[in-house]
Amino acid sequence: MSAIKDRFSVRAFLDKPVPKSLLEDILKMAQQSPSGGNLQPWHVYVTAGADRAAFLEKVQASIKAAPMGEPDSPDIYPPKLKEPYKARRAQCGYDMYSALGIPKDDKMAGIKQVMKNFEFFGAPIGIFFAIDKTMGRPQWSHMGMYIQSLMLAAVERGLGTCPQEAWMLRHQTVREHFEIPQEMDVYCGLALGYPDPDHPINNYRTQRASLDEVVTFRGFK
Ligand SMILES: Cc1cc2nc3c(=O)[nH]c(=O)nc-3n(C[C@H](O)[C@H](O)[C@H](O)COP(=O)(O)O)c2cc1C
Repeated sequence: MSAIKDRFSVRAFLDKPVPKSLLEDILKMAQQSPSGGNLQPWHVYVTAGADRAAFLEKVQASIKAAPMGEPDSPDIYPPKLKEPYKARRAQCGYDMYSALGIPKDDKMAGIKQVMKNFEFFGAPIGIFFAIDKTMGRPQWSHMGMYIQSLMLAAVERGLGTCPQEAWMLRHQTVREHFEIPQEMDVYCGLALGYPDPDHPINNYRTQRASLDEVVTFRGFK
């Protein structure tokens, strides 16, 4: 419970490397995640150091060529977000920009913040997740369980993470750089490193709906 409570999306990291042995410990623990039929459908690509730098250069070139996203980028959210999801998403953005002192109408400052996704928010490690195209919704959810396990194990070792669907807008560059085969779908990225405790973006927490909004209890007295 304490790892769940302490995890949050870290969007500013210290310039401090993460030893490979520590990363391997975390990845081994995440490997314990459950999956239907124990398929373990997740495929994981990890980058650091010179490879990360070379990748991020390619990403910058892609942003120059296609600022709004590479062709055929998958949708991150449903095109017509219904309530209550729409309001929750708006609140999430409002809270983040308020923590940074960015006014609601300052579009440029907002875009600048979003672009930090494509530098892993300064994290020394970038991770990507892919899954075979033959896998369906059940296996995608198992990949999600894997990602959560990884994030919680990282918290226990003093690290922070930010899962990043923003990378879906750079799916071609990700696929090419990491040589992800065509038979796989590229899902999200994940920034991993030591959180910067002094950065204001790490000093607010998101809210959650109450149980009565999401849970239906039956048969209890
Ligand atoms: C799969 C996934 C993808 C996400 N993608 C992004 C992203 O691209 N950029 C970002 O800043 N936050 C991203 N988030 C973080 C969410 O905004 C965050 O989890 C949510 O607002 C709850 O806040 P918390 O993680 O701090 O508890 C993502 C979260 C998940 C689970």
